Amino acid sequence: MKVALVFPLLACGSLLIAAGHAPAEPGIAAGGMVATVHPAATDSGVAALGGGGNAIDAAIAAALMLGVVDGHNSGIGGGCFILVHLADGRQVAIDGRETAPARAHRDMFLRDGKPNAELSQTGPLASGVPGALAAYDLAAREHGRLPLQQALLRAAEVAEKGYVLDVSAAKRLNDLSATFARFEGSRAVFLKSDGSSHEAGELFRQPDLARTYRSLAEDGIAWFYQGPFAKALEGWMASNGGLTTASDLAAYRPQMREPILSTYRGYAIVGFPPPSSGGVHVAQILNILEHFDLKAIYGRDPAQFYHVIAEAMKRAFADRAYWLGDPGFAQVPRGLLDKQYARELARQIKLDRATEVACHGDPPAAGSDHFSRHTTHIAAVDAAGNWVGITATVNTAFGSKVVVPGTGVVLNNQMDDFSIAPGVPNSAGLVGAEANAVAPGKRPLSSMSPTVVLADDKPLLTLGAAGGPTIISQVVMALVYRLDLDRDLAAAVGGVRVHQQWRPDELRVQPTMEKDWIAALEGIGHHVRRGGFGICQAIERLPDGRFLGVHDPRVAGKAAGP
Ligand code: GLY
Repeated sequence: MKVALVFPLLACGSLLIAAGHAPAEPGIAAGGMVATVHPAATDSGVAALGGGGNAIDAAIAAALMLGVVDGHNSGIGGGCFILVHLADGRQVAIDGRETAPARAHRDMFLRDGKPNAELSQTGPLASGVPGALAAYDLAAREHGRLPLQQALLRAAEVAEKGYVLDVSAAKRLNDLSATFARFEGSRAVFLKSDGSSHEAGELFRQPDLARTYRSLAEDGIAWFYQGPFAKALEGWMASNGGLTTASDLAAYRPQMREPILSTYRGYAIVGFPPPSSGGVHVAQILNILEHFDLKAIYGRDPAQFYHVIAEAMKRAFADRAYWLGDPGFAQVPRGLLDKQYARELARQIKLDRATEVACHGDPPAAGSDHFSRHTTHIAAVDAAGNWVGITATVNTAFGSKVVVPGTGVVLNNQMDDFSIAPGVPNSAGLVGAEANAVAPGKRPLSSMSPTVVLADDKPLLTLGAAGGPTIISQVVMALVYRLDLDRDLAAAVGGVRVHQQWRPDELRVQPTMEKDWIAALEGIGHHVRRGGFGICQAIERLPDGRFLGVHDPRVAGKAAGP
């Protein structure tokens, strides 16, 4: 029995190393490692490790600091997934994904019968109930050694004192200034008192956010989920046409999930399960790629190497569009991870031409065997053997663009990760089906893919990425470069990337890819579009036991350890 179709079926039947980026300066240390997109966040994580904390404390400290210095990507008004390989060998997946408010309904983004994507991307209807803070709190209580207070207070100080805006941060604020101007709380934080935008080189202070972090340090997360923040959020929503109430915040619970375990060429791959699509499709793509000798293909014909990877991605994303959703609401088949199913998909791939994939596939036991049921990635490890990946997000830059007045908290726009109507692309161009329709309390489908790789049962690598659906592709490509092509970790993260998400049927390639390879890919039928990708962080255990940390060279991040 397939998922009951309320939506109709999707249209079935119908930088620079090897042309990538110069690797960034890696970090090497024996006492642990933290890699993030921002030096202040990495430093906060390293301070946690130096202050008696473990990798869980370090990753959470980094995440809380990112909410201050990198708030367009993530923050306590958003959500996260936390994947931990504990020193005792257990794997833990904590789901801090946002939920749709209780008054949400599947047609809430239709106006006059037509989908209105503006409503799911900006303003009061765009936000899900934030989950990141509850997940950090749960992870710290269950597996950390430090209370959240220290990390909150360190981040509050930076919010209070401010930091200097660089050119890209100032441009981002300027580009969004007209949207910020629509919302009272956002005007107060992101625009100057005369309504103009902040410029590069100026000090950017967030006193309201500093007060919020200090209140959380003092009163715990009840201040947010049951106290003054919940009340402020409800008040703003009620007077601006939103649906979220204080009861939605009080009802929010992070979920413990069962990590996805798969294998790739003898390595064990640990991934994040639904409501992320990341773990499922990283595993599925790797299962398909196992049927190709990628190293030999790359040596013979690099364009064919990218072709094979793109064809594998195309099939996985076709399945994603149909089958994937919150496992509490949709029946997501475990058969998507089946090796025999991957073999059948691999057989469809032709080495000499791009093939049309008309429709999703039918994984085995799809009726009976189910998963029970702009973003940032932080990687952290400690000397005791805890390995952590947190991918956190408010979705697109500054989420819904709404700041709850007086709190400094940017609300996510994760509702846009639902399928607002069948076949209607979201801000990432993704289409979906009934499995990912809006429903009260449901979690929107994600691509976030925190991943741990084990060799001989010992953690070898942890990695993850930002960048919407390209997260899945970036994780796959970094793994293939590292494990198949034997590139060092920095070169693997900096390597040229490709992404094929089935719909639209185009092959996104990093613009720095060799022109000859692009011409060859076009020659065999790929519709190539040069485009941007997200940002990947990774840590590897070296043969001598030290840790090698790498931040993506595409931004000025930092990898360091004590
Ligand atoms: N909002 C990006 C993701 O969760 O995939």
